[in-house]
Amino acid sequence: MTNYVKIFDTTLRDGEQSPGATMTSAEKLEVAHNLARLGVDIIEAGFPAASPDDLEAVRRIAAEVGNPPEGNPEARVPVIAGLARANKSDIDKAWEAVQGAKHPRIHTFLATSPIHMKHKLKMDPEDVIQRVSEMVTYAKSLCADVEFSPEDAGRSEPEFLYVVLGEAIKAGATTLNIPDTVGYTTPDEFYNLIDGIIKNTPGMHEGITVSVHCHDDLGLATANTLAGIRAGARQAEVTINGIGERAGNTSLEEVVMALKTRHPVFGLETGIETPQLSRISKLVSNYTGILVQPNKAIVGSNAFAHEAGIHQDGMLKHQTTYEIMRPEDVGVNQTNLVLGKHSGRAALRNRLAAMGHSLDDVELDKAFARFKDLADRKKVITDMDLEALIADEFYQPRDVYQLNGLQVTSGTMGMPTATVRLRGPDGVIHTRAAIGTGPVDATYKGIDQIVNVPCTLLEFNIHAITEGIDALGEVTVRIQSEAGSTTMDAQSEVQYNRVYGGHGADTDIIVASAKAYINALNKLIIAQTEGNEKTQNDFGVMLG
Ligand code: KIV
Ligand code: ZN
Repeated sequence: MTNYVKIFDTTLRDGEQSPGATMTSAEKLEVAHNLARLGVDIIEAGFPAASPDDLEAVRRIAAEVGNPPEGNPEARVPVIAGLARANKSDIDKAWEAVQGAKHPRIHTFLATSPIHMKHKLKMDPEDVIQRVSEMVTYAKSLCADVEFSPEDAGRSEPEFLYVVLGEAIKAGATTLNIPDTVGYTTPDEFYNLIDGIIKNTPGMHEGITVSVHCHDDLGLATANTLAGIRAGARQAEVTINGIGERAGNTSLEEVVMALKTRHPVFGLETGIETPQLSRISKLVSNYTGILVQPNKAIVGSNAFAHEAGIHQDGMLKHQTTYEIMRPEDVGVNQTNLVLGKHSGRAALRNRLAAMGHSLDDVELDKAFARFKDLADRKKVITDMDLEALIADEFYQPRDVYQLNGLQVTSGTMGMPTATVRLRGPDGVIHTRAAIGTGPVDATYKGIDQIVNVPCTLLEFNIHAITEGIDALGEVTVRIQSEAGSTTMDAQSEVQYNRVYGGHGADTDIIVASAKAYINALNKLIIAQTEGNEKTQNDFGVMLG
């Protein structure tokens, strides 16, 4: 058996479909480019049947990330997968979306647990077996690389799974993914499940990759994934920061660093460039507006901080006393003091290229103007500053509303007042003034008067990107629509009011706050426009 574990990243599918993780197409494309650079083997780029917009986002990722760059045809590119329920319409859409990739994959699934078959699918086990056989055969007629998942495998009868998976192999599936959809199993149980599948599935052979896909409802996703790998699984389905349905998916960084740090225990390799972990974690957090908890393993801001005196003393004597990984192995504390006031365009272009952002001349002009403006206010500009600047300048949703001017008065001498100027979608400038309980409240009230989209502010977070009094302030918000834009994921059939994240960065924290709110509102407005299409075209497609 190979000692290589394929990393299948589903941040853009299972991660993105969870409430609040909505990303724009431009953001998804940027995350996909970064996943490719990180070295993931497979990118599940989305669920193309969800909407024409989702299909288009997957198609773009397949074309742009799933193919080698011009002039370097030998460059390694990831497999691009699209998810499809086990029906022809979904499979056709998945194929339409991924076929432009050099290595396309259709990933289809059908539930196999007694609970799901009876209550959700309302299908007999025999019909499930037949549907799997027919739909995997159909997918295989379109695409050489087919993955099949028996949804809720963690609560399925192992003997029934062997039969279903045997049919999937017969029909042409080459990857069998075993999901613990509701995060129910324990590591021992999951080990035995994977072990049993490898030993008892008819037709199992070396060419079949067994994969694991765990959810974190009991906080066991990483432990279960590692148990599955120990039992012989050679693909792990994971997300950056562990984002995903409910308590989330297994986090990529935890599995990869466990395999690397405890190499003598596992004896297994991945293709992940671990020094990029910290940066991509930040990128996904910015785009989704979902903050990483400070004590999150590997990528939390406290993951390498030592506060207790006894720990600091030990660390000073020898780093390994309290650190099992070197921070630089996951890209932490690499301050990269790179640029300053006197750096030119070429230096900026080179630094951005090294960070993975290739800008054309017009984009570089814009970035350079922002960089100079920042350099006037801040002495040294680090990679983290540049990352925030790029996210702020280029990865905003198609401009619906744009901040055009802001003036605030606050303090103890009067009422906090904000005068807000926004450029609307029609290019018209709108100006409103509002008072509030504080400068941010006044600013948001002024924005609301112009944008006039009912929503609730669920979360507001502010922090400094780097150290120092001149640091860039970064704000993330999460808002929930009060009407209109509902969403539905591939598995649950439940619709709920969507949650949108927004991100803004500026040396002025009120400006950063305004940008973050407008960013989230723009996503909400775009989704409301597209939501109508989704209802008519796609929500009618039957599950299963
Ligand atoms: O959790 C799950 O069952 C899934 C499948 C679609 C693989 O995400
Ligand atoms: Zn899942």
